[in-house]
Amino acid sequence: MALVCAGVSMLFLVFVGGKDADTARARVTGAWDRTVPLIRQGYLPSVLPAGKDMAIQVLDTRQRVVASTPQLAGRPPMATFHATSDSVHAERVLCSPAGLKGCMTVFSYKVYQPDGPWLLYVAVPTVPWYGNTAALFFAIGMSLLMTAMTAGGTYRLIRKDLVPVDAIRAELAEITATDLHRRVPTADKNHQEINLLAETVNDTLDRLEGAYKRLRRFTSDASHDLRSPITAMRAQLEEALMHPDDTDWPAMTAAVLGGVDRLQAIVTDLLTLARLDARAPLDLSPADLGQLVRDELGRRTYRIRIAKDLQQGVFVDCDRLRITRLLVNLLDNAERHATSQVLVSVRATGSAATLEVADDGAGIAPEHRETVFDRFTRLDASRDRDSGGTGLGLAIAREIAEAHRGTLTIEDSRRGARFVLRLPLSEALQPAGGRDGRTAHAGVSGR
Ligand SMILES: Nc1ncnc2c1ncn2[C@@H]1O[C@H](COP(=O)(O)OP(=O)(O)OP(=O)(O)O)[C@@H](O)[C@H]1O
Ligand SMILES: [Mg+2]
Repeated sequence: MALVCAGVSMLFLVFVGGKDADTARARVTGAWDRTVPLIRQGYLPSVLPAGKDMAIQVLDTRQRVVASTPQLAGRPPMATFHATSDSVHAERVLCSPAGLKGCMTVFSYKVYQPDGPWLLYVAVPTVPWYGNTAALFFAIGMSLLMTAMTAGGTYRLIRKDLVPVDAIRAELAEITATDLHRRVPTADKNHQEINLLAETVNDTLDRLEGAYKRLRRFTSDASHDLRSPITAMRAQLEEALMHPDDTDWPAMTAAVLGGVDRLQAIVTDLLTLARLDARAPLDLSPADLGQLVRDELGRRTYRIRIAKDLQQGVFVDCDRLRITRLLVNLLDNAERHATSQVLVSVRATGSAATLEVADDGAGIAPEHRETVFDRFTRLDASRDRDSGGTGLGLAIAREIAEAHRGTLTIEDSRRGARFVLRLPLSEALQPAGGRDGRTAHAGVSGR
């Protein structure tokens, strides 16, 4: 607005300056019109009528002042220049011409008389480019007013627009760890960008609240799972101490040892998870996934039949200990839930290696296929805590898969649960220029 005002004011002032200059010129012409006939007719009075801010002098052929306006009475000629031989009129700006104050524009005319050319000087105040000070102050005043009004209006408008942002800020400032259920307000539909901001903040708060709830549940589950065996062991020990003679000490010791085993298992799992959470570096090396599975299956015997479909030469970069741990967790679950058999398969699909563990048990309902990966989650069917595990097995398995840049999911199957692990194929052993591991590593497949 300031720039626009400056531009418009310039134009306005130049216009006023032009107008004022025209007016001054017209006054000079008027003076010429009035004086020249008097000179020609010989009726020239020695004191000419005074015009406002205008001074006139008439000089005869010998450069003597024969007539002038009152302020120049008895004064020498105000100027010495005169028109050239081929023109009758000349004009100059003189700052303080003789006998006058301030800068004046002096016009000089030749008036031809029988005894030679006389000179008529008419002086008027010089018109500045902006015309007059009133116009200048008017332009400056209007510009300041317009700029101030625009600035004020814009400030109020922006403040009004930013009210929702301030509301979001205030709400966020109040949301603490215990107030995570609160959400920032959304603005009206005129503030689309601010609404998007509020929605994004609310999404972030949703996720934060979810993570916070999971953490709280995990902490309470962990303490509960640790407390149960401790309470049981404490009761057994107190009972034994109260009736030392009636106690079967070896049996009691074995029972307490069972509790200690369980505590140890939970603490070991928690430590494994903590290390995985901390993203401890993996000891990666290329390994044949099929061979790894075969080795693990050969290491121990299972109460049910394990069918194998293991493609050879499916190489992945993995931490053997951790991938074996993942496999054991899946096999333990499958063995626990299968009715008669478990199928373990390994194959390369595109750029991924796929390991599947499928059993023919009751399976896992689609709505639980994500929650079973949460820590300490055991479905109702597995709630028998003595025979069941700690509920950390799948959480650990998924963390291991993700640490290897892979995924572990439960997918549809005709019967039972089907766990699918996908890992990127080893890049070190990929054929040059190709991503399809199948061609490089496809080998004997069979059970
Ligand atoms: N193959 C399966 N068939 C049916 N349900 C399963 C299967 N595998 C896991 N689940 C369900 O998922 C839950 C979580 O499994 P997870 O391995 O994490 O814990 P867990 O086996 O109970 O204990 P842990 O493995 O820590 O000893 C199990 O309690 C069980 O209810
Ligand atoms: Mg398990």
